[in-house]
Amino acid sequence: MQDLVALESLSTQDIESLLDLSQNMAEILDRPIKKVPTLRGKAVVNLFFEPSTRTRNSFELAAKYLSADVINVQQSGSSVEKGETLWDTARNLSEMAVDGVIVRHQVSGVPQQLADILDIPVINAGDGSHEHPTQGLLDALTISQAKGSLAGLKVAIVGDVLHSRVARSDIHVLLALGAHVVLVGPPTVLPESYEELGVEVTTDLRRALSDADAIQVLRLQKERQNSGEIPSLWEYRLRWGITSQTVSWAKPDAVILHPGPQNRGVEIDSDILESSRSWVLRQVRNGVAVRMAVLFRLLGGGRGDE
Ligand code: CP
Repeated sequence: MQDLVALESLSTQDIESLLDLSQNMAEILDRPIKKVPTLRGKAVVNLFFEPSTRTRNSFELAAKYLSADVINVQQSGSSVEKGETLWDTARNLSEMAVDGVIVRHQVSGVPQQLADILDIPVINAGDGSHEHPTQGLLDALTISQAKGSLAGLKVAIVGDVLHSRVARSDIHVLLALGAHVVLVGPPTVLPESYEELGVEVTTDLRRALSDADAIQVLRLQKERQNSGEIPSLWEYRLRWGITSQTVSWAKPDAVILHPGPQNRGVEIDSDILESSRSWVLRQVRNGVAVRMAVLFRLLGGGRGDE
């Protein structure tokens, strides 16, 4: 691995190896002193052109726990506001002797384009509706911690699948690890072509949740309402909302995930988020562990260094 742009391009062996390493990193997070010297002397740039709470801060903490230096660059306040291209910004930052670039951008494909022009590792922190690879890894890690393994589990992904980079990364990692994946949501944002990947696609929430072991609830992108692709918030909640009633259709020990940020009372009810079934805060904690693993793998050397 030179870069991490998409889980689609990783082998099952690469994914399993990253998840094993993430589990080791999760154990470091449980120590009273979390800082380890692994990336001492390295520097990374967090280049975020879209808002983020979880991903940006967990990449920053992951780098700091590994003793790397971090700088944060956002569109606001950077020379992009004066007309500089993103490519020039990235090239200039990479000349400052940094060892890796983490990038989030609203346009799909930007991380790959940066990977093509930079000779340091590029990590995709979410690009448009393409992929969010570290989110996919942390979701897989969380389900496997809850259930022991992913092989043979039924995982339902609920919501606006069409525009979701999280769904795309989840699909790749979950299929690679042997889960049965069901996609469910409004027909206008549910690409039937995904069946070719080997997943089940349905608009029927009850069918999707029946016997499910895990439910990944996607954020309803409210801005999509203006495009007419999704119904009113009231209708969405009625047909695809995760509530105490709809959760009862899944297995009694099914776990609930949500990548965040959540619209409470729309795609998921507060009582479900606060229930013992909810693993959403574990997802956030695992996000730090997964990002430590990715930074270590790409900046810290090969597998023999573990
Ligand atoms: N899950 C996720 O990407 O959250 P942020 O937008 O807060 O980073």
